[in-house]
Amino acid sequence: TSGGSDAAKRRAGESAAEAATDGDVVGLGTGSTAAHAIRRLGDRVDAGLDVRGVPTSFASRELAAEEGIPRLDLSEAVGPDGPGIDIAIDGADQVATGGEAGDALVSGGELIKGGGAAHAREKLVDAAADRFLVVVDPSKESPRLDRSLPIEVLPAGRTAVAAAVREAGGEPTLRRADRKDGPVVTDNGNLVLDCAFGEITDPAALSTTLSATPGVVEHGLFVGLADEVHVGTASGVRVDEV
Ligand code: A5P
Repeated sequence: TSGGSDAAKRRAGESAAEAATDGDVVGLGTGSTAAHAIRRLGDRVDAGLDVRGVPTSFASRELAAEEGIPRLDLSEAVGPDGPGIDIAIDGADQVATGGEAGDALVSGGELIKGGGAAHAREKLVDAAADRFLVVVDPSKESPRLDRSLPIEVLPAGRTAVAAAVREAGGEPTLRRADRKDGPVVTDNGNLVLDCAFGEITDPAALSTTLSATPGVVEHGLFVGLADEVHVGTASGVRVDEV
């Protein structure tokens, strides 16, 4: 969870939650902004909305249960007999706005995710959805992606992936837990390397390189997945189509 105004996050989350309609299967993202969307969906379910949620993490599953939103596993939702996922609503740690001269490789709508170490399941759900709605406050917007990039790694592959990250121009740091001596362990039992690449000028190329690296379970670059970005502001919400 990062900074930014909670009121702006709430406006973004609630705006996206309004997009759900009766019968929808809705991907439930992780983080403080997506949590606002889940709570609004819960209110709408109380009021009679007929939806089922696909959680992206332990935390989003717990919140959905608390909110009384019927749930479906990703493995049940997606597949030959599954209903599919109509919309996914999820936060981000950074959203590229693109648009600067010379920024041909960053067109806007590329994301860095994984601040909550949930990006592997988030990517599965967000990529499977017919429409992926990103919910952020303005502090997340940037012309270029330059935050450190979370990479979930198999524990046994930690040093091999770290070497590959250095080779690709990044500086990896093992994510450590606040209230425990030792590393953060993901919902999937893996570790996280936070990798400083400086400005990522070609997110698609870096995404391909990292995805091809043995030991990488999933990285936090989301390229070509977002359909809409709901940006909560001090006074309202701006919706950008990607
Ligand atoms: C979780 O791993 C991330 O991808 C989150 O989506 C991200 O950290 C956004 O969280 P906030 O909405 O709390 O900033």
